[in-house]
Amino acid sequence: MTEKESNYQALLPEVEALTAGETDEIANMANIAAAIQARMGFHWTGFYRVCGEELVLGPFQGPVACTRIAYGRGVCGTAWKEARTLIVPDVDQFPGHIACSALSRSEIVIPILREGAVVAELDIDSAELDTFDAVDEHYLTVLLTSLGSAAKS
Ligand code: SME
Repeated sequence: MTEKESNYQALLPEVEALTAGETDEIANMANIAAAIQARMGFHWTGFYRVCGEELVLGPFQGPVACTRIAYGRGVCGTAWKEARTLIVPDVDQFPGHIACSALSRSEIVIPILREGAVVAELDIDSAELDTFDAVDEHYLTVLLTSLGSAAKS
């Protein structure tokens, strides 16, 4: 097992314990973001929520970030529009990428669905190229269970 996998294995019961019995979505997003960040040490880990025609910044860990993202814009807006997980190995190669932080090099965005509609997204930025793969997608999808079902890539 890789170090990344063993970190995720340790993270799963932490997130399960933090979210079990708690129904408030914002509280769960806050603790999930903090738990991922503490265990994995990414550059930025946080949530955007669908509010009308835009994504609005939710609980996060890391540097300050863009508060609103339009449907179809950037990695986050595209993942919402396409209702699928996006793994971006090099953000400079993604047309329209929104650079909230100049240090971000790669990114994963996982839409969260309820009754077939995207209601929120988990967005994680790395300061290194090519950080995210199917292992991240697998474990992060499981971590999001309390919030809804995660969209596949
Ligand atoms: N890079 C994202 C914007 C959100 S920040 O990374 C926190 C995008 O292109 O949608």
